Amino acid sequence: MTAFATPSFFFREATLQINTDKERRELSGHLPAHVGIIMDGNGRWATKRGLPRALGHRAGTERLRGIIRLSSDLGIRALSLYAFSTENWKRPKNEVDALFGLFMEYFTNEVEELHANGVRIRMLGDVDGLPANVRAAVRAAEEKTGRNEGLRLNVALNYGARAEAVRTIRAFARETAAGTLNPEAIDEQLLLARLDTGGLPELDLLIRTGGEQRLSNFLLLQAAYAELAFVDTLWPDFSDALYMGALRDFAQRSRRFGGLQ
Ligand code: IPE
Ligand code: IPE
Ligand code: MG
Repeated sequence: MTAFATPSFFFREATLQINTDKERRELSGHLPAHVGIIMDGNGRWATKRGLPRALGHRAGTERLRGIIRLSSDLGIRALSLYAFSTENWKRPKNEVDALFGLFMEYFTNEVEELHANGVRIRMLGDVDGLPANVRAAVRAAEEKTGRNEGLRLNVALNYGARAEAVRTIRAFARETAAGTLNPEAIDEQLLLARLDTGGLPELDLLIRTGGEQRLSNFLLLQAAYAELAFVDTLWPDFSDALYMGALRDFAQRSRRFGGLQ
């Protein structure tokens, strides 16, 4: 897997703490192909410091580089990040605006470096329901990186598993009504292929930071046999070392998928 070209603060931090080549060798064959992360705890991180919640979201965004880089360097094939849920619209307008401002900043500033490192970006969720400027920025990022062969980075924006199910079922219904799809042809494989994550490896590990032990409508069908890791640390404090710890823990799990071994 390509090493990131431009050494950055996060790169130095990562290499100081973690020997990715060694970890990769030791965990070879036991690393998840696809990791999902519910990045929770930004608001509490800020509130604990007497800061506005928006600054917690900014601090959270600053953790992305390290986590993406480590995933890429370890050879994890896909990383799906929950950034904004269909339920997060319930938050005060100023917080929603601050979040969308950060998404715009992120896509404007980071895509070039991600592209240079072979990362392929895809959005999960209802992109059509995003503000026009964000929609344009994320579509441009998908377009630019669409032929890359490195880490598959999936950003769940305006994503909810139930909304995803409704969109998918409606598409099936339209096609069966039009006579282009035989209802009997709908099987598990086709269903999974038509979800937002179609074509990605199975979700192996789902991490939630921030201490809550729930899925909050993230990848419910994809998580059918994912290993779950609930971490007490708030997302802005979720270090590369803690991520590595979750991956090492995953490597020890006994996965049976309903069978006996
Ligand atoms: C997660 O952090 C980020 C988003 C939901 C966008 P929160 O904002 O939920 O942080 P807490 O859970 O309130 O601490
Ligand atoms: C889940 O966190 C959504 C994201 C991390 C984007 P929430 O903070 O929205 O979840 P709840 O409200 O605690 O379930
Ligand atoms: Mg939260």
